[in-house]
Amino acid sequence: MSEKKRIFSGIQPSGDLTLGSYMGAIKNWVALQDEYDCLFCIVDMHAITVRQVPADLRRRSLEQLAQYIACGLDPKKNIMFIQSHVPQHAELSWVLGCYTQFGELSRMTQFKDKSAKHADNITAGLFTYPVLMAADILLYQADAVPVGEDQKQHVELCRDIAGRFNYVYGDTFTLPEPFIPKMGARIMSLGDPTSKMSKSDPDGCVFLMDKPEDIMRKFKRAVTDCETAVRYDPAAKPGISNLLTVYCTATGKTIEEAEQEFAGQGYGVFKPAVGEAVVELLRPIREETERLLKDKAYLESVYKEGAERAQYLANKTLRKVYKKVGFVARG
Ligand code: TYM
Repeated sequence: MSEKKRIFSGIQPSGDLTLGSYMGAIKNWVALQDEYDCLFCIVDMHAITVRQVPADLRRRSLEQLAQYIACGLDPKKNIMFIQSHVPQHAELSWVLGCYTQFGELSRMTQFKDKSAKHADNITAGLFTYPVLMAADILLYQADAVPVGEDQKQHVELCRDIAGRFNYVYGDTFTLPEPFIPKMGARIMSLGDPTSKMSKSDPDGCVFLMDKPEDIMRKFKRAVTDCETAVRYDPAAKPGISNLLTVYCTATGKTIEEAEQEFAGQGYGVFKPAVGEAVVELLRPIREETERLLKDKAYLESVYKEGAERAQYLANKTLRKVYKKVGFVARG
């Protein structure tokens, strides 16, 4: 890789990709791929922190790779790979876990939310999930991590772990910065605009592969408020503000431009217009994904090459870390 700054990011194939992960993460990745050396991962090892159906996980991992490419990520420019193909992630994760406090992990809001949701299956993997995420990032000495707002706390913990390790052993890891988009960092559920759009809530969530009629239906039913003005005010009008964010992120317009466009028009005009903007945004992505999924040999060549290139970089860091902590060299 060149002397450009480096980026790492990933998405769990624990559900189909959503408009939230597109607007909060992938859209930003596409914009950054020329300026940075990038690694984009399908984090299947993170996905098994809650129970998955094996056949679905396998299918979604491949689909996610096809969707990354269909969204505009170029496999020639970027390293695109599947996390479980690069065993160094698990190896570094073990070491970093020995430099992470129980208390730190207990404070992670995603752990608190997920352990409440899966109260019958709170595994050690769910608890140490942020350590594996730190390993993902630190293995590649990433300078920046483009994520949505909800992942900021994990990137900050990653910095703390890296800083602690560097303090004990001398400079080993680059401290990464979270890279959060100005618009679209937190897309809310269409059914409940006070909670995040998430793949576990299919009604409030738009999936990248949804058909146009389903997208339109979801937007027409989106929860708003009992006023009529299309105005951005997240505290007083969370539903309309979220739709404005979606509309502007999809069209590239500013909030002021959108407010003017819909001045005096009411929600009956605004909601279908947002739906149409999203249909047009997702149409080429869906069509290209469908095309790519027919070419399994191509997808395989992308993830194989990605894993090889990633392993090369990952090994460099892992060797350094093993030496610093005092492991005997394999020779
Ligand atoms: P995940 O799989 O939950 O989400 C993937 C990315 O999409 C963003 N995102 C959203 N952004 C805006 N609005 C939403 N409603 C929304 N929903 C999801 C997330 O912030 C994220 O950027 N732990 C990570 C995956 C991960 C990772 C990493 C990320 C594992 N290792 C290393 C970066 C670097 C996660 O669960 O994301």
